[in-house]
Amino acid sequence: LERTFSIIKPDAVRRNLIGKIIAKFEENGLRPVAMKKIHMTREQAEGFYAVHKERPFFTELVEQMIASPVVVQVLEGENAIARNREIMGATNPANADEGTIRKEFALSVGENSVHGSDAPETAREEIKFFFTDDEIVG
Ligand code: GTP
Ligand code: MG
Repeated sequence: LERTFSIIKPDAVRRNLIGKIIAKFEENGLRPVAMKKIHMTREQAEGFYAVHKERPFFTELVEQMIASPVVVQVLEGENAIARNREIMGATNPANADEGTIRKEFALSVGENSVHGSDAPETAREEIKFFFTDDEIVG
C-alpha cells in the first residue's frame, strides 16, 4: 500500500466540509492513517510551498493557506498518490471532472479546497514536514 499527504484547505474547513471531503477519500479506497487540525504559520506555508516561490501567485497562496485552520492527513491505499489526485480533480475547478472534490467544492484555482502530493518523493517529504513516525497509525 502507498501513502500520500493531503491538506483540507482553509476555504473548505471554513465551510464545514471536512466530513464530506474525508467521506470522498474513504468511499474511494483511501484510509486516513494520520490526521490533525492545525493553523499553519507563515513559515510553515512558505516552506511547504517553497517550489512555487518564484510564481506570481506565491504570496496569495501563502495568505490563503494561513488565513484559518487546515486539516492535514496521511492517506493510505492502493496507488494512493494517483488515486487521491483523481478524487481531487484538476487544480482549476473549472477544468475538474464531475464527482471530484474540486468540481463539487472548490471556489477558485487558489481556494481549491484540497492539496495532494504529486509523486512518491514529494509524498515522503510532505508527510515528514507535518508528521512524526509515531503519529502515523496504519
Ligand atoms: P496541489 O495539490 O495543491 O499541489 O495542487 P496541484 O498540484 O494541482 O497544483 P500546483 O502544484 O500547480 O499548485 C499548487 C497550488 O497553488 C494549487 O493547488 C493552487 O491552490 C495554487 N495555485 C496554482 N495556480 C494558481 C493561480 O494562478 N492563482 C492562485 N491564487 N493560486 C494558484
Ligand atoms: Mg502540486
